Amino acid sequence: MNYRHAYHAGNFADVLKHVTLALIIDYMKRKDAPFRVVDTHAGCGRYALDSAQAVKTGEWRGGIGRLLGPDAKPLPSDVEGIMAPYLEAVRAHNPPHQLRIYPGSPLIASRMMRSHDRLVANELHPEDRTALEEALGRDRRIILLALDGWVALKAMLPPKERRGVVLIDPPFEEEGELARLADGLVGALRRFATGVYLAWYPIKDVAPIAAFHHSVAAGAGCELLRIEIMLRRGNAADRLNGCGLIVANPPYTLRGQLSAALPELTQRMAAGAGARFVLDRLV
Ligand SMILES: C[S@@+](CC[C@H](N)C(=O)[O-])C[C@H]1O[C@@H](n2cnc3c(N)ncnc32)[C@H](O)[C@@H]1O
Repeated sequence: MNYRHAYHAGNFADVLKHVTLALIIDYMKRKDAPFRVVDTHAGCGRYALDSAQAVKTGEWRGGIGRLLGPDAKPLPSDVEGIMAPYLEAVRAHNPPHQLRIYPGSPLIASRMMRSHDRLVANELHPEDRTALEEALGRDRRIILLALDGWVALKAMLPPKERRGVVLIDPPFEEEGELARLADGLVGALRRFATGVYLAWYPIKDVAPIAAFHHSVAAGAGCELLRIEIMLRRGNAADRLNGCGLIVANPPYTLRGQLSAALPELTQRMAAGAGARFVLDRLV
C-alpha cells in the first residue's frame, strides 16, 4: 500500500469525482427518508494544501486551484449554481476567500448529510485511517472501518435504510484493479440493486477502459452514466491523461447538471490542446 492521496488531493480527478458525489447527495436530500453513504476507500478526509506532499506535486493547482485558487476567475453564475453543493463544502473548510484545505469524500459527505443520514467510511492504511478519525471527529452519524475496501463493499450492502450512495475509489496501484472494479460494482448491484454507485477509474491507455466498460455494461442490469474528462490529446500509457466515473442508477437530474458544468470544468482544468469530456449512457 504505497499510494498516498495527500499527493493528489484536490487535483482534476478529485474535482470531477466530488462535484458528482455532491450533486448525488444533494439529490438524495430531496426526500426526507434517511440514506447512507458508503465510502470504500475513504482516504484521510482532510488535506492541507501546503503540506510537503501537496507542494511536491502541486496537483491541486490544476484542479481545485483553477476554480477557487487565488488566481482563478469567478465561475459563470450558472456553473457556480450547479456546483454549489460541492463549492459550499470546500469553502466550509477554508477561511473566507482562501484555499488552504481540501476536503476529501468523507468530509464532503459528512458536511452535506442530515442528522438522520449515515456515513460508513472505510480506510485500510493505518496512518490515513488515524488522520481520517481526527478529521471526522466524534460524530454519531459516522461509522469508521479499517477493512479491505472490496470486503467492505460486500459487508456493508445493502444498507438498512435501503437508500444509499456508494463511492468506490480504489488507488489503482495493483494489476487488475479495473477488472476488480467491474466485478465489485456488478456484485454490489446484485446485493443492493437500487443504490446509486460512483466508480472512479484513471485513464492512461484507452484500450483497457473499453474492456472495463464492456464488463460493467454486460453485468450491471441498470442505467449507467459515463462521465470522463481528458486533460489533453493523446493516449500515452505511462501517464494519467484523464479519468472517468461510472454512475450506476444516476439521479435523473445528474446528466443535465453535468452537461452544463463540464464544458467550463474541462476548459479550466485542461493540461494541453485537445482536452475534452464525455457524458453519455453506457450501453
Ligand atoms: C484514491 S484514495 C481515496 C480518496 C477519497 N475517496 C476521496 O475522494 O477523498 C484511495 C485510498 O484507498 C486506500 N486504500 C488502499 N488500498 C486499500 C484497500 N485494499 N482497502 C481500503 N482502502 C485502501 C488508500 O490508503 C487511499 O487512502
